Amino acid sequence: MITIVSGTNRPNSNTFKLASYYQHRLTEKHVASHMLSLADLQANFISAEMYGKCNETFRPFQDRVTATEKFIFIIPEYNGSFPGILKTFMDACKFPDSFFNKKAALVGLSSGKYGNIRGVDHFTGVCHYVRLNVLPLRIHIPHIFSEFNSENRLFKEDTLRFTDEQIEEFIRF
Ligand SMILES: Cc1cc2nc3c(=O)[nH]c(=O)nc-3n(C[C@H](O)[C@H](O)[C@H](O)COP(=O)(O)O)c2cc1C
Repeated sequence: MITIVSGTNRPNSNTFKLASYYQHRLTEKHVASHMLSLADLQANFISAEMYGKCNETFRPFQDRVTATEKFIFIIPEYNGSFPGILKTFMDACKFPDSFFNKKAALVGLSSGKYGNIRGVDHFTGVCHYVRLNVLPLRIHIPHIFSEFNSENRLFKEDTLRFTDEQIEEFIRF
């Protein structure tokens, strides 16, 4: 099973739109997936769920991670890196079982012109630490505000081609 992690808790994020697009494309390719949005974490997540405490509110997230073999992380650029909430989420998941020897595809996005190249590199380091095997083809989408049509789907030829290539490779990975 593939789980798509929408890597921010910011409401109405472009990250969630892009995560939804990835899920839509997987569905069109007859591949089942789950959405795990960090926007669904409880407001008191940092104080209530960290460091060995796994309360009822976090258990569905942990159970989803435990049941997943392949993750697609959609990662916005926040201050030149990936969002703190994403690292906090990784820190809250059981170590080492949650991610050990599993697989990940990484997708960066930003409103600026770099598509979170650095943040995806930073997150790749975290993935390697928790022993996630990262698909070599990582995608970066800059200027994200110009990438969606009125139905919140990607539409630009290059972006469609690169994202589809990544999705196909990840299905085979
Ligand atoms: C806290 C914060 C920091 C940000 N830092 C950057 C940045 O360093 N570079 C950049 O291009 N965009 C930056 N952005 C803009 C995001 O890339 C932009 O909001 C984009 O839509 C992806 O984030 P979203 O999923 O929250 O919408 C930042 C946004 C936030 C909320």
